[in-house]
Amino acid sequence: MERLFNPRSVAVIGASADSKKIGSRVVANMLASGYRGVVCPVNPKVDEILGLRTYPSVEAIEADVDLGIISIPAAGVESVVEACGRKGIGYLVVLTSGFSEIGRIDEERRIVEVARAHGIRILGPNVFGIYSAAGSLDATFGPGGIAPGRIAIISQSGALGIAMIGKTASEGLGLSALVSVGNKSDLDESDLLEYLVDDERTGVILLYIEGVKGGERLVRTLSDVTRRKPVVVIKSGRSRRGAMAAASHTGSLAGADAVFDDLMRQCGVLRAESVQEAFDWVRYLSSAPRPAGSEAVIVTNGGGIGVLATDACEQHHVKLYDDQSVLAEAFADVMPAFGSSKNPVDLTGQATAEDYEQALDAVLREDRMHATIALYCETATADSARFEGLLRDVYERYRNVKPIVFSLFGGGSISEVIRTLRAEGVPVFEDVYQAVSPLGALYRSWRESGRERETAPTVDLDVAAVRSILRDASEEGRGFLLAHEAGRVGELLGLTMPASRTTRSLDEAVNAAEAIGYPVAMKIVSKDIVHKSDAGGVALDLEDESEVVEAYQAILRSCRAHKPGALIDGIEVAEMIRPGVETIVGARRDPSFGPVVMFGLGGIYVEVMKDVSFRAAPIGTRGANEMIASIRSYPLLLGVRGESRKDTGAVADVIVRLGHLASQCPEITDVEINPLVVYDHGEGVRAVDVRILLDVPKEVKGR
Ligand code: ACO
Repeated sequence: MERLFNPRSVAVIGASADSKKIGSRVVANMLASGYRGVVCPVNPKVDEILGLRTYPSVEAIEADVDLGIISIPAAGVESVVEACGRKGIGYLVVLTSGFSEIGRIDEERRIVEVARAHGIRILGPNVFGIYSAAGSLDATFGPGGIAPGRIAIISQSGALGIAMIGKTASEGLGLSALVSVGNKSDLDESDLLEYLVDDERTGVILLYIEGVKGGERLVRTLSDVTRRKPVVVIKSGRSRRGAMAAASHTGSLAGADAVFDDLMRQCGVLRAESVQEAFDWVRYLSSAPRPAGSEAVIVTNGGGIGVLATDACEQHHVKLYDDQSVLAEAFADVMPAFGSSKNPVDLTGQATAEDYEQALDAVLREDRMHATIALYCETATADSARFEGLLRDVYERYRNVKPIVFSLFGGGSISEVIRTLRAEGVPVFEDVYQAVSPLGALYRSWRESGRERETAPTVDLDVAAVRSILRDASEEGRGFLLAHEAGRVGELLGLTMPASRTTRSLDEAVNAAEAIGYPVAMKIVSKDIVHKSDAGGVALDLEDESEVVEAYQAILRSCRAHKPGALIDGIEVAEMIRPGVETIVGARRDPSFGPVVMFGLGGIYVEVMKDVSFRAAPIGTRGANEMIASIRSYPLLLGVRGESRKDTGAVADVIVRLGHLASQCPEITDVEINPLVVYDHGEGVRAVDVRILLDVPKEVKGR
C-alpha cells in the first residue's frame, strides 16, 4: 500500500494540456500539493504538460512507476491496464466512469482480471482520486488546497468526496488521506482501513458508504480498527427512497438500513446522522485528549441552557459528575449565594468573565472531573468582547489535558467569536446539542477502544446432521423444510420442540391428542400449502376429543376449498405450549453482510414497531445478551408490574447456537423460530415453530 499512499513516481495516463480536462487538473494538483516524487504525464499527442516532459505511453517511461492514474475514456482503459501491467506498475487509480455503475459489469470485471494477471491493484473505477499526506500527494481532480492533518476520509461518492475537500478546507480540517473508492472493483474500504489503522498520521477515520460489498470482511476489519482508532460512518439510504437512490447511484445494493445500523454498533463504529455531524465528530476526535474517566461537568451562566445541556448529555450518553460535596468545594470561591454547584454548575447571569474562567479552571484542576461542557449565554454583566481571548486561553490550558466543548449563545458579537474560534480549531458551537454531540462521540469511541472483542464460542452442534436434512430438501427442489424436518433442526439446535404426530385419520388424531395430553393444536401438513393459517389449516387450544373431531373436519374442509387439488399428507396434532413472553429469534443471509442473527419481541412489537436487533453471525454470549438488551421493549423481559424477570440467558443461548448454524450452513437463507416463548428466570424457553428457507441450486430447481 506504500506504493499507493507514498509512491516514488506517478504516471498520469490521459494527462492533457487542456486545463479544462480532468487529466490536466490531476497533474496541476500534484504539482501544487508539493509532491516530491516523479510525475510522468502520458499523452501521445503533446511533448509537454505544465512544464513536464510527457511520454507517448507508460512503457516509454524509463524509470520504475509505482502508481498510475488513468484519465482516458472507458473504451481505452483495458488496453492501458495491460500496458501498465507490462510496465510493472503496482497500483492504478481509474478515474474513468462508465463501468458497473451503468451496468457495464463485464467491462469492469475484465480490467480487474487483466490487472490481477499482472499483480496490479485497482482503486476504482469511477473515482475522483487519492490524496495522501504521507506522499504530499494530491492526485485528485478536486479543488486543491487540502491541508495535512489527522483525519482520513474514505468516500464512495465522488461528488460528495470532492465537495468534502472544499468543506474540510473551509472548516480548517486537516487530512491524512482522502480516498475515493467508487465502484470498488478491487480495493475496498477494508483494504484501506487495514492500511490506515497502522498509518501514524491518521488519528480518526471517516467513511462515507452508499452500499456495502464484502460486508463480512468489513465487519471483521472494523471491529479490529475501532479498538485502535475511532471510525465515524455516514451511510446514505436511511430512508426507503434514499436506499433506492443510493442503489441506482452506485450500482451496488444498499443493505437494509436496520441491519447496517446494528452491525456498525456491533463493530464499535460511530454512525453520524449528517455530514456536518460527522465533521464535528472527526474534528473533535482527532484533537481532543483521551478522557481519564467518564464523568463530565457542565459549567453555565444560565439555568435554562444548563437543563438543555443535561438533556443533550442523556441523549448522547455523557455521564454527569454527581458528588455534591466535591462540587460544592470545587466551586466555593466563585459561586454566589443564589447559584448552584450541583451539576450543571450554575454561576448565574451575574457571573463575570473572571468567575467563568475561574470555574473552568477549577474543573481542569479536579482529577475526579473528567470533561467540561462550558456554556455561556450573552448577558449584560459579562463583557462578551473579552470572551474570545478568554476561551482561547482556557482551551489552550485544556487541549492536551482534559476534553472540553463550548456552547455560546447570543447576538452578532457572539456569532463572530464562534466563527473566529472555530476557524482556529476550538470546539465551540452555538447549539448545545451540537456541542455535546462530539463529546458523546468521544466517550463512545473511548468505551469501544477499551472493550474486549468477543470471539464466538465453540458450539456443540451437529452441523453435518442439519446439512443432510437440507440436502434432502434441496435434492427434491424444495426451497423450504417441511415441519418435521424443521422441527428436527430445532432439536439439533437444542430446542425442545412441541410433542407432535402427523395423523392420517380421525381416529389417529384423537389417539395422538390423548397420548400428547390436552390442550392440543392441529395443523395441516401439505407442501402445497405454505401459509397454513390463511388456508384455515390451523386450530389451537383444543380441550377435548369432541373439539379435536370438529377441528379435524374443519381443517380438511377449508384447506380443500382454499387450494383444490393440494396434496394433503395429513394433520399434525401437537402439544400446546404454555404461555409466556413471545419472542422471535431468526437468522438470515444478508446480501451485504452474509449471515446475521435477529432478535425481537413477537406480535405487534416486531410487526408494527419493528423493534428488532441484528448482529453479524457467529456471535458470542455477551454479544447475544447485548442484542437482547438493545431492543426498546427489553424492560418487558426484565419483568414489569410485579412480573418476574424472564430467562434471557436461555434466549441468548438459542441466538448463539443459531448464529453458529447460520455461519456454518451457507445454503440456509432464512431461519425463524417464531414464537420462542420465554418463561421466568431459570425456566427456559420453548419453541413453537421453526421455519427454514434454503437456497436451491438453479439446476435442481429446473429439474
Ligand atoms: N494513452 C494516453 N493518452 C490518451 C489515451 C491513451 N491510451 N487515450 C486518450 N488519451 C489522451 C487524449 O488524447 C486526451 O488528451 P488531449 O487533451 O491532449 O487530447 C486525454 O488523454 C484525455 O482523453 P479525452 O478523450 O479527452 O477524455 P476526457 O478527458 O474528455 O475524459 C475521462 C476522460 C475524464 C476519464 C472521462 O471519460 C470520464 O470518465 N469522466 C468522468 C470522471 C468522473 O466523474 N469520475 C467519477 C468520480 S468523481 C464524481 O463522481 C464527481
